[in-house]
Amino acid sequence: MSTDTSSPDRRVAVVTGASSGIGAATARTLAAQGFHVVIGARRTDRLESLAAEIGATARSLDVTDDASVAAFCDGLDRVDVLVNNAGGAKGLATVAEADLDDWRWMWETNVLGTLRLTRALLPALEASGDGLVVTITSIAALEAYDNGAGYTSAKHAQGVLHRTLRFELLGKPIRLTEIAPGMVETEFSLVRFDGDQEKADAVYDGLTPLTADDVAEVIGFVASRPPHVNLDQIVLKPRDQASARRNVRTG
Ligand SMILES: NC(=O)c1ccc[n+]([C@@H]2O[C@H](COP(=O)([O-])OP(=O)(O)OC[C@H]3O[C@@H](n4cnc5c(N)ncnc54)[C@H](OP(=O)(O)O)[C@@H]3O)[C@@H](O)[C@H]2O)c1
Repeated sequence: MSTDTSSPDRRVAVVTGASSGIGAATARTLAAQGFHVVIGARRTDRLESLAAEIGATARSLDVTDDASVAAFCDGLDRVDVLVNNAGGAKGLATVAEADLDDWRWMWETNVLGTLRLTRALLPALEASGDGLVVTITSIAALEAYDNGAGYTSAKHAQGVLHRTLRFELLGKPIRLTEIAPGMVETEFSLVRFDGDQEKADAVYDGLTPLTADDVAEVIGFVASRPPHVNLDQIVLKPRDQASARRNVRTG
């Protein structure tokens, strides 16, 4: 893994789940804004090529594994921005037919993953004098939908974890922003449907979803506000989607 150390006067942004989708786009955006970006995920080949493209530091990271998180955070003395992005969904089952392994995956990755990284990097974020924690939840953190309880419950929990920090850290130099997107075309649905490309494509049939770049641009805006401005929660959806349960397919 590349272990490039940034110059001490350059702001450092850590992005989890940067091997695809929103995380990779966010890493590109923050690097273009002048941050030294530290990117983490399990697919290190992808991280290495992104790191070469944008001049980032790539480190292997499994947010569900304590030892991996400790190794990832080791030596990160300066951290100005943490983007808790690693996450996703598995399956679309009713509660009656819930798969416990899928639920465990979703809770470990979205909820405990966010907890592990945030807890480990809070001291460095505070020491930066103007820390920022951006957590990518979802509109699934704000509403329930049929067959989605494993994901919606995990995203609700992740959202509450993040929002609790807004209170607990009041008075400290750390800002907190929750980004709650609707449909974004990434590898999200491919992961949810276990690699079934046809099922994944059908999710976006006939409508125009957000792109990873659309979300990254908003994160770039958040990260470029002055220290006294805290954007607490940003919900962004495609025009064709009014809620997790209601969209229009005209295309
Ligand atoms: N796409 C949407 O419609 C949508 C909407 C709302 C919210 N979100 C949220 O946005 C975030 C990013 O998702 P995406 O849409 O960009 O999907 P994606 O393309 O599937 O990206 C997910 C990223 O998370 C990483 N990841 C998964 N498990 C991990 C683990 N155990 N340790 C470290 N990294 C892990 C993946 O990397 P590796 O597999 O290489 O580890 C990948 O880089 C997620 O939190 C998702 O819930 C997505």
